[in-house]
Amino acid sequence: KELTIIQAPFCGGQGKPGVEKGPKYMLKNGLQSQLGDLGWTTTVETPLDAAELKLMMERDEVTDQYKRSKRPNLVGDNTKKIYHAVKKTCSEGKFALTLGGDHSIAIGTVSGALAQYPDLGLLWIDAHADINTLESTNSGNLHGCPVSFLLGLNDDCPESLKWVPGDLKPEKIAYIGLRDVDDAEKKIIKDLGIKAFSMYHVDKYGINKVIEMALQAVHPETNGHGPIMCSYDVDAVDPLFVPATGTPVRGGLTLREALFLVERLAETKDLVALDIVECNPDLAVDDIHVSNTISAGCAIARCALGETLL
Ligand code: ARG
Ligand code: MN
Ligand code: MN
Ligand code: MN
Repeated sequence: KELTIIQAPFCGGQGKPGVEKGPKYMLKNGLQSQLGDLGWTTTVETPLDAAELKLMMERDEVTDQYKRSKRPNLVGDNTKKIYHAVKKTCSEGKFALTLGGDHSIAIGTVSGALAQYPDLGLLWIDAHADINTLESTNSGNLHGCPVSFLLGLNDDCPESLKWVPGDLKPEKIAYIGLRDVDDAEKKIIKDLGIKAFSMYHVDKYGINKVIEMALQAVHPETNGHGPIMCSYDVDAVDPLFVPATGTPVRGGLTLREALFLVERLAETKDLVALDIVECNPDLAVDDIHVSNTISAGCAIARCALGETLL
């Protein structure tokens, strides 16, 4: 049981500073020793340099634009570094736990896992679909676009994002937790036939059944079994439990639903990689908001890696 914690303190996929502090806060909370207690041998890797990133953010703000998107070169260069770190971890047979950072980092993490596991099924846990293209994005924030890059939907993109293989098949993704999806995104999801379980489906079927259906959807030939990656945006969880995040949307997963989801994935023994993204301690209005958000992020990691209640 070996695991690499990949720190991805990146905030260039959106406009609110502070989300780059996620990895530091989760590690300060004791995440590494908690995973050690669960029997994991862990190493920490830092493919991005925080000081260098700060300089890049300042430099790139004005000139780094493409169509409607903001900082595509910054995102392209940094997600490529994350890609290599995740790919290497997976190729060594280790679990890849990436701590963000904003959700644009998943361009790197999912591509890295996919390089090792061509049959990978991706569960995208989020209030948002993050499937806008460079054409469709209204905000210009690339954390709203990673899935379109993974699917290869941006033929016309800047040089620094051309490294993305974009070979994920639409039938290998399932969403859980959606409740704030742009009209253009709804059309893409529908046109490509992507399996999407919104909060409506969680209410209708219950979280256990939804997970079962999601696993079946991404691995239909093997009765739901096969390598699974989970890209977990903490804003999938209701802001009552996870308030310190950049784009909170009410009406989300309860804390138990959020943890059950990953407890269930751990039980399958098929989980090979996990991202935890969009924790932004700077957006908390008080210390309780910080600790609620960070401890929820750490609990998601622990439950995905085998922690049980009994
Ligand atoms: N759909 C919106 C956009 O394109 C919001 C995306 C929020 N994404 C996130 N990773 N929190 O900007
Ligand atoms: Mn989100
Ligand atoms: Mn299995
Ligand atoms: Mn997201």
